[in-house]
Amino acid sequence: MNPTSSAAERRPTSLLRRALRWAGYGLGAVAALLVLGAGTLYVISQHRIQRVHRIEARPVAVVSNGETIARGRHLAFTRGCIECHDTDFGGKPVIEDAMVGRIHGPNLTRGLGGVPDSHTDLDFVRAIRHGVNREGHALLVMPSLEYTHMSDEDLGALIAFLRSLPPINRARGPVSPGPVAHALIALGQLKVSAEVIDHSAPRLARIEATPTSAYGAYLAASCMGCHGPNFSGGRIPGTPPDWPASANLTPHASGRLASWSESDFVTVLRTRKRPDGTELHPLMPAVYSQLTDVETRALWLYLQTLPPVATGQR
Ligand code: HEC
Ligand code: HEC
Repeated sequence: MNPTSSAAERRPTSLLRRALRWAGYGLGAVAALLVLGAGTLYVISQHRIQRVHRIEARPVAVVSNGETIARGRHLAFTRGCIECHDTDFGGKPVIEDAMVGRIHGPNLTRGLGGVPDSHTDLDFVRAIRHGVNREGHALLVMPSLEYTHMSDEDLGALIAFLRSLPPINRARGPVSPGPVAHALIALGQLKVSAEVIDHSAPRLARIEATPTSAYGAYLAASCMGCHGPNFSGGRIPGTPPDWPASANLTPHASGRLASWSESDFVTVLRTRKRPDGTELHPLMPAVYSQLTDVETRALWLYLQTLPPVATGQR
Protein backbone atom coordinates (compact mmCIF):
# COMPACT_ATOMS: atom_id res chain seq x y z
CA MET A 1 0.00 0.00 0.00
CA ASN A 2 1.30 3.45 -0.80
CA PRO A 3 1.96 5.28 2.51
CA THR A 4 1.30 8.69 0.95
CA SER A 5 -2.15 7.81 -0.27
CA SER A 6 -2.94 6.11 3.01
CA ALA A 7 -2.05 9.30 4.94
CA ALA A 8 -4.15 11.31 2.53
CA GLU A 9 -7.05 8.95 3.09
CA ARG A 10 -6.67 8.88 6.83
CA ARG A 11 -6.80 12.64 7.26
CA PRO A 12 -10.31 13.33 5.95
CA THR A 13 -11.57 10.17 7.58
CA SER A 14 -10.37 11.20 11.00
CA LEU A 15 -11.72 14.73 10.44
CA LEU A 16 -15.02 13.26 9.47
CA ARG A 17 -14.92 11.00 12.50
CA ARG A 18 -14.16 13.90 14.77
CA ALA A 19 -16.87 15.99 13.18
CA LEU A 20 -19.30 13.13 13.54
CA ARG A 21 -18.29 12.62 17.13
CA TRP A 22 -18.95 16.30 17.90
CA ALA A 23 -22.17 16.19 15.99
CA GLY A 24 -23.00 13.13 18.02
CA TYR A 25 -22.36 14.99 21.24
CA GLY A 26 -24.40 17.92 19.97
CA LEU A 27 -27.33 15.74 18.97
CA GLY A 28 -26.96 13.78 22.17
CA ALA A 29 -27.11 17.00 24.15
CA VAL A 30 -30.19 18.18 22.27
CA ALA A 31 -31.83 14.79 22.74
CA ALA A 32 -30.88 14.79 26.43
CA LEU A 33 -32.32 18.29 26.87
CA LEU A 34 -35.51 17.24 25.09
CA VAL A 35 -35.85 14.16 27.25
CA LEU A 36 -35.04 16.17 30.36
CA GLY A 37 -37.53 18.88 29.36
CA ALA A 38 -40.25 16.39 28.55
CA GLY A 39 -39.42 14.47 31.71
CA THR A 40 -39.66 17.62 33.82
CA LEU A 41 -42.98 18.61 32.25
CA TYR A 42 -44.24 15.08 32.83
CA VAL A 43 -43.19 15.16 36.49
CA ILE A 44 -44.80 18.57 37.04
CA SER A 45 -47.97 17.47 35.30
CA GLN A 46 -48.10 14.16 37.23
CA HIS A 47 -47.63 16.12 40.44
CA ARG A 48 -50.58 18.35 39.53
CA ILE A 49 -52.70 15.34 38.59
CA GLN A 50 -51.88 13.36 41.71
CA ARG A 51 -52.07 16.16 44.22
CA VAL A 52 -54.78 15.67 46.84
CA HIS A 53 -57.04 18.68 47.30
CA ARG A 54 -58.45 18.89 50.79
CA ILE A 55 -61.64 20.82 50.37
CA GLU A 56 -64.70 21.21 52.55
CA ALA A 57 -67.61 20.60 50.21
CA ARG A 58 -70.82 22.04 51.63
CA PRO A 59 -73.91 19.91 51.05
CA VAL A 60 -76.73 21.34 48.90
CA ALA A 61 -80.38 20.35 49.23
CA VAL A 62 -81.27 17.72 46.62
CA VAL A 63 -85.04 17.75 46.25
CA SER A 64 -86.30 15.17 43.81
CA ASN A 65 -89.62 15.89 42.14
CA GLY A 66 -90.89 16.33 38.59
CA GLU A 67 -90.05 20.01 38.55
CA THR A 68 -86.49 19.75 39.88
CA ILE A 69 -85.70 16.78 37.63
CA ALA A 70 -86.93 18.72 34.57
CA ARG A 71 -84.83 21.71 35.61
CA GLY A 72 -81.81 19.43 36.17
CA ARG A 73 -82.29 17.87 32.75
CA HIS A 74 -82.38 21.29 31.09
CA LEU A 75 -79.14 22.21 32.89
CA ALA A 76 -77.43 18.91 32.05
CA PHE A 77 -78.25 19.40 28.37
CA THR A 78 -77.66 23.15 28.02
CA ARG A 79 -74.58 23.37 30.27
CA GLY A 80 -72.73 20.93 28.06
CA CYS A 81 -72.63 17.77 30.24
CA ILE A 82 -73.94 15.74 27.29
CA GLU A 83 -70.99 16.77 25.11
CA CYS A 84 -68.75 14.54 27.23
CA HIS A 85 -71.09 12.26 29.18
CA ASP A 86 -73.46 11.58 26.25
CA THR A 87 -77.21 12.17 26.06
CA ASP A 88 -77.89 8.98 28.05
CA PHE A 89 -75.14 10.00 30.53
CA GLY A 90 -73.49 6.61 30.05
CA GLY A 91 -70.26 8.32 28.98
CA LYS A 92 -68.44 8.61 25.65
CA PRO A 93 -65.05 9.27 24.06
CA VAL A 94 -64.17 12.98 23.92
CA ILE A 95 -60.58 12.99 22.67
CA GLU A 96 -58.76 10.13 20.92
CA ASP A 97 -55.43 11.54 19.81
CA ALA A 98 -51.96 10.00 20.07
CA MET A 99 -50.38 13.29 21.20
CA VAL A 100 -53.20 14.88 23.20
CA GLY A 101 -54.36 11.66 24.83
CA ARG A 102 -57.38 9.47 25.32
CA ILE A 103 -60.11 11.14 27.32
CA HIS A 104 -63.53 9.57 27.83
CA GLY A 105 -66.29 11.18 29.86
CA PRO A 106 -67.31 8.61 32.48
CA ASN A 107 -70.68 6.94 32.93
CA LEU A 108 -72.68 9.01 35.44
CA THR A 109 -75.54 6.53 35.84
CA ARG A 110 -75.86 3.75 38.42
CA GLY A 111 -75.32 1.07 35.76
CA LEU A 112 -72.26 -1.19 35.44
CA GLY A 113 -69.23 1.03 34.84
CA GLY A 114 -71.09 4.02 36.29
CA VAL A 115 -70.91 5.74 39.66
CA PRO A 116 -71.12 3.25 42.55
CA ASP A 117 -74.23 3.03 44.74
CA SER A 118 -72.17 4.42 47.59
CA HIS A 119 -71.74 7.72 45.68
CA THR A 120 -73.42 10.40 47.81
CA ASP A 121 -74.96 13.73 46.84
CA LEU A 122 -71.89 15.33 48.39
CA ASP A 123 -69.64 13.30 46.05
CA PHE A 124 -71.55 14.87 43.16
CA VAL A 125 -71.09 18.33 44.70
CA ARG A 126 -67.34 17.62 45.00
CA ALA A 127 -67.12 16.61 41.35
CA ILE A 128 -69.33 19.30 39.78
CA ARG A 129 -68.61 22.32 42.00
CA HIS A 130 -65.04 21.57 43.10
CA GLY A 131 -63.60 19.37 40.31
CA VAL A 132 -62.33 16.62 42.60
CA ASN A 133 -63.29 13.00 43.13
CA ARG A 134 -63.99 11.39 46.50
CA GLU A 135 -60.30 10.92 47.18
CA GLY A 136 -59.64 14.60 46.51
CA HIS A 137 -57.85 14.00 43.19
CA ALA A 138 -58.47 16.59 40.49
CA LEU A 139 -60.84 15.53 37.71
CA LEU A 140 -59.15 16.12 34.37
CA VAL A 141 -60.92 17.80 31.44
CA MET A 142 -64.14 17.96 33.49
CA PRO A 143 -64.77 21.76 33.33
CA SER A 144 -65.88 22.28 36.94
CA LEU A 145 -64.56 25.84 36.76
CA GLU A 146 -67.57 26.60 34.55
CA TYR A 147 -69.99 25.03 37.01
CA THR A 148 -68.51 26.11 40.30
CA HIS A 149 -70.75 29.18 40.59
CA MET A 150 -73.95 27.36 39.78
CA SER A 151 -76.48 28.21 42.49
CA ASP A 152 -77.21 25.68 45.22
CA GLU A 153 -80.71 25.32 43.81
CA ASP A 154 -79.47 24.56 40.27
CA LEU A 155 -76.75 22.22 41.50
CA GLY A 156 -79.33 20.38 43.63
CA ALA A 157 -81.63 20.04 40.59
CA LEU A 158 -78.75 18.76 38.46
CA ILE A 159 -77.91 16.12 41.06
CA ALA A 160 -81.59 15.15 41.43
CA PHE A 161 -81.70 14.65 37.65
CA LEU A 162 -78.47 12.60 37.52
CA ARG A 163 -79.77 10.40 40.33
CA SER A 164 -83.05 9.83 38.46
CA LEU A 165 -81.30 8.44 35.37
CA PRO A 166 -82.00 4.87 34.31
CA PRO A 167 -78.86 2.75 34.71
CA ILE A 168 -76.72 2.36 31.59
CA ASN A 169 -74.16 -0.44 31.50
CA ARG A 170 -71.09 1.00 29.79
CA ALA A 171 -67.50 0.47 30.89
CA ARG A 172 -65.54 3.48 32.04
CA GLY A 173 -63.17 4.66 29.32
CA PRO A 174 -59.65 5.97 29.87
CA VAL A 175 -58.72 9.41 31.15
CA SER A 176 -55.09 9.33 30.06
CA PRO A 177 -53.41 12.51 28.92
CA GLY A 178 -50.80 12.16 26.16
CA PRO A 179 -47.48 14.03 25.94
CA VAL A 180 -49.01 17.26 24.62
CA ALA A 181 -51.65 17.32 27.35
CA HIS A 182 -48.99 16.64 30.01
CA ALA A 183 -46.89 19.52 28.67
CA LEU A 184 -49.91 21.86 28.56
CA ILE A 185 -50.94 20.88 32.10
CA ALA A 186 -47.38 21.44 33.37
CA LEU A 187 -47.17 24.83 31.65
CA GLY A 188 -50.57 25.85 33.00
CA GLN A 189 -52.06 26.14 29.49
CA LEU A 190 -54.55 23.42 30.24
CA LYS A 191 -56.24 24.39 33.47
CA VAL A 192 -56.92 21.83 36.14
CA SER A 193 -60.24 23.12 37.50
CA ALA A 194 -59.57 21.97 41.08
CA GLU A 195 -56.48 24.19 41.17
CA VAL A 196 -58.11 27.38 39.93
CA ILE A 197 -61.50 27.20 41.63
CA ASP A 198 -61.94 29.36 44.72
CA HIS A 199 -63.31 26.50 46.83
CA SER A 200 -64.41 28.63 49.77
CA ALA A 201 -66.02 31.47 47.77
CA PRO A 202 -69.66 32.06 48.70
CA ARG A 203 -72.17 30.48 46.28
CA LEU A 204 -75.61 31.80 45.41
CA ALA A 205 -78.47 29.97 47.11
CA ARG A 206 -80.60 30.63 44.04
CA ILE A 207 -80.74 32.93 41.04
CA GLU A 208 -83.85 34.22 39.34
CA ALA A 209 -84.02 33.41 35.60
CA THR A 210 -84.49 36.92 34.22
CA PRO A 211 -83.70 38.49 30.82
CA THR A 212 -80.80 40.49 32.28
CA SER A 213 -77.08 40.68 31.60
CA ALA A 214 -76.48 39.47 35.18
CA TYR A 215 -78.30 36.23 34.40
CA GLY A 216 -76.47 36.12 31.05
CA ALA A 217 -73.13 36.24 32.88
CA TYR A 218 -74.30 33.29 35.00
CA LEU A 219 -75.18 31.30 31.87
CA ALA A 220 -72.12 32.32 29.86
CA ALA A 221 -69.78 30.62 32.33
CA SER A 222 -70.33 27.48 30.28
CA CYS A 223 -69.26 29.14 27.02
CA MET A 224 -65.82 30.11 28.38
CA GLY A 225 -64.18 26.71 28.07
CA CYS A 226 -64.30 27.01 24.27
CA HIS A 227 -64.69 30.75 23.66
CA GLY A 228 -62.04 31.70 26.24
CA PRO A 229 -62.25 33.50 29.58
CA ASN A 230 -62.69 36.85 27.79
CA PHE A 231 -64.90 35.34 25.03
CA SER A 232 -62.52 36.39 22.24
CA GLY A 233 -62.49 32.90 20.69
CA GLY A 234 -59.54 31.44 18.82
CA ARG A 235 -58.00 28.00 19.19
CA ILE A 236 -59.11 25.99 22.20
CA PRO A 237 -56.00 25.04 24.22
CA GLY A 238 -55.29 21.33 24.44
CA THR A 239 -57.46 20.31 21.51
CA PRO A 240 -56.11 18.28 18.58
CA PRO A 241 -54.96 20.32 15.56
CA ASP A 242 -57.94 19.31 13.41
CA TRP A 243 -60.39 20.94 15.85
CA PRO A 244 -61.63 24.35 14.65
CA ALA A 245 -61.03 27.65 16.41
CA SER A 246 -63.99 29.04 18.35
CA ALA A 247 -65.56 32.36 17.39
CA ASN A 248 -65.17 35.79 18.94
CA LEU A 249 -68.29 36.56 20.99
CA THR A 250 -67.18 40.06 22.04
CA PRO A 251 -68.47 43.07 20.08
CA HIS A 252 -65.08 43.58 18.40
CA ALA A 253 -64.85 44.41 14.69
CA SER A 254 -62.74 41.28 14.09
CA GLY A 255 -65.68 39.08 15.14
CA ARG A 256 -69.11 38.62 13.57
CA LEU A 257 -71.28 39.50 16.55
CA ALA A 258 -70.37 43.18 16.17
CA SER A 259 -72.51 43.28 13.03
CA TRP A 260 -75.31 40.95 14.19
CA SER A 261 -78.63 41.92 15.73
CA GLU A 262 -80.06 40.08 18.71
CA SER A 263 -82.38 38.17 16.39
CA ASP A 264 -79.40 37.11 14.20
CA PHE A 265 -77.69 35.78 17.33
CA VAL A 266 -80.77 33.87 18.47
CA THR A 267 -81.30 32.45 14.97
CA VAL A 268 -77.68 31.23 14.92
CA LEU A 269 -78.15 29.44 18.26
CA ARG A 270 -81.48 27.93 17.19
CA THR A 271 -80.69 26.96 13.59
CA ARG A 272 -76.84 26.80 13.47
CA LYS A 273 -77.01 28.93 10.32
CA ARG A 274 -75.35 32.35 10.19
CA PRO A 275 -77.04 35.31 8.47
CA ASP A 276 -74.64 34.73 5.52
CA GLY A 277 -75.99 31.18 5.17
CA THR A 278 -72.90 29.34 6.41
CA GLU A 279 -73.32 26.55 8.99
CA LEU A 280 -71.64 26.29 12.36
CA HIS A 281 -69.04 23.57 12.85
CA PRO A 282 -70.44 20.64 14.90
CA LEU A 283 -68.04 21.44 17.76
CA MET A 284 -70.31 24.36 18.65
CA PRO A 285 -72.94 22.44 20.66
CA ALA A 286 -76.26 22.00 18.85
CA VAL A 287 -78.06 21.74 22.16
CA TYR A 288 -78.16 25.51 22.60
CA SER A 289 -81.22 25.38 20.38
CA GLN A 290 -82.94 24.29 23.62
CA LEU A 291 -82.11 27.52 25.46
CA THR A 292 -85.24 29.40 26.49
CA ASP A 293 -86.08 32.88 25.16
CA VAL A 294 -85.15 34.33 28.55
CA GLU A 295 -81.77 32.59 28.38
CA THR A 296 -80.88 33.68 24.83
CA ARG A 297 -81.92 37.26 25.64
CA ALA A 298 -79.85 37.26 28.85
CA LEU A 299 -76.83 35.86 26.97
CA TRP A 300 -77.12 38.46 24.23
CA LEU A 301 -77.41 41.31 26.74
CA TYR A 302 -74.38 40.02 28.63
CA LEU A 303 -72.23 39.57 25.49
CA GLN A 304 -73.04 43.19 24.56
CA THR A 305 -71.48 44.37 27.84
CA LEU A 306 -68.13 42.66 27.13
CA PRO A 307 -65.10 44.79 26.33
CA PRO A 308 -64.33 44.30 22.60
CA VAL A 309 -61.25 42.07 22.18
CA ALA A 310 -59.62 41.07 18.89
CA THR A 311 -60.25 37.43 17.90
CA GLY A 312 -58.11 34.87 19.68
CA GLN A 313 -56.55 37.22 22.27
CA ARG A 314 -57.66 34.96 25.11
C1 HEC B 1 -65.41 18.64 28.34
C2 HEC B 1 -65.92 17.38 28.82
C3 HEC B 1 -66.82 17.35 30.03
C4 HEC B 1 -67.95 18.12 30.28
C5 HEC B 1 -68.53 19.22 29.42
C6 HEC B 1 -68.48 17.64 31.53
N1 HEC B 1 -67.71 16.63 32.02
FE1 HEC B 1 -67.99 15.64 33.78
N2 HEC B 1 -66.25 14.64 33.49
C7 HEC B 1 -65.49 14.67 32.35
C8 HEC B 1 -64.35 13.79 32.51
C9 HEC B 1 -63.27 13.51 31.47
C10 HEC B 1 -64.46 13.22 33.79
C11 HEC B 1 -63.49 12.21 34.43
C12 HEC B 1 -62.30 12.96 34.92
C13 HEC B 1 -61.29 12.10 35.64
O1 HEC B 1 -61.63 10.96 36.00
O2 HEC B 1 -60.17 12.60 35.88
C14 HEC B 1 -65.68 13.78 34.37
C15 HEC B 1 -66.15 13.44 35.63
C16 HEC B 1 -67.39 13.81 36.13
C17 HEC B 1 -67.95 13.36 37.38
C18 HEC B 1 -67.28 12.43 38.38
C19 HEC B 1 -67.66 11.03 38.05
C20 HEC B 1 -66.99 10.04 38.96
O3 HEC B 1 -66.96 8.88 38.57
O4 HEC B 1 -66.54 10.40 40.05
C21 HEC B 1 -69.22 13.92 37.49
C22 HEC B 1 -70.21 13.71 38.61
C23 HEC B 1 -69.41 14.73 36.32
N3 HEC B 1 -68.29 14.65 35.51
C24 HEC B 1 -70.56 15.45 36.05
C25 HEC B 1 -70.68 16.37 35.02
C26 HEC B 1 -71.80 17.28 34.87
C27 HEC B 1 -73.02 17.28 35.75
C28 HEC B 1 -71.51 18.07 33.80
C29 HEC B 1 -72.32 19.24 33.27
C30 HEC B 1 -72.77 20.22 34.24
C31 HEC B 1 -70.24 17.63 33.25
N4 HEC B 1 -69.76 16.60 34.03
C32 HEC B 1 -69.62 18.16 32.13
C33 HEC B 1 -65.71 15.44 31.24
C34 HEC B 1 -66.69 16.41 31.13
C1 HEC C 1 -67.53 22.83 23.00
C2 HEC C 1 -67.09 24.14 22.57
C3 HEC C 1 -68.07 25.29 22.57
C4 HEC C 1 -68.89 25.72 23.57
C5 HEC C 1 -69.08 25.13 24.97
C6 HEC C 1 -69.58 26.89 23.06
N1 HEC C 1 -69.17 27.15 21.79
FE1 HEC C 1 -69.88 28.61 20.58
N2 HEC C 1 -68.65 27.99 19.09
C7 HEC C 1 -67.72 26.98 19.20
C8 HEC C 1 -66.97 26.90 17.95
C9 HEC C 1 -65.85 25.92 17.65
C10 HEC C 1 -67.49 27.89 17.09
C11 HEC C 1 -67.05 28.20 15.67
C12 HEC C 1 -67.88 27.36 14.75
C13 HEC C 1 -67.49 27.56 13.32
O1 HEC C 1 -66.43 28.14 13.05
O2 HEC C 1 -68.27 27.11 12.45
C14 HEC C 1 -68.55 28.55 17.85
C15 HEC C 1 -69.36 29.55 17.32
C16 HEC C 1 -70.31 30.23 18.04
C17 HEC C 1 -71.16 31.27 17.50
C18 HEC C 1 -71.10 31.78 16.06
C19 HEC C 1 -70.28 33.01 16.01
C20 HEC C 1 -69.68 33.31 14.68
O3 HEC C 1 -68.94 34.30 14.60
O4 HEC C 1 -69.92 32.56 13.74
C21 HEC C 1 -71.94 31.74 18.52
C22 HEC C 1 -72.98 32.83 18.44
C23 HEC C 1 -71.61 30.97 19.69
N3 HEC C 1 -70.62 30.06 19.36
C24 HEC C 1 -72.18 31.17 20.93
C25 HEC C 1 -71.91 30.36 22.03
C26 HEC C 1 -72.53 30.55 23.31
C27 HEC C 1 -73.50 31.68 23.66
C28 HEC C 1 -72.08 29.57 24.13
C29 HEC C 1 -72.45 29.27 25.57
C30 HEC C 1 -73.86 29.28 25.89
C31 HEC C 1 -71.15 28.76 23.34
N4 HEC C 1 -71.07 29.28 22.07
C32 HEC C 1 -70.49 27.63 23.80
C33 HEC C 1 -67.53 26.16 20.28
C34 HEC C 1 -68.23 26.20 21.44
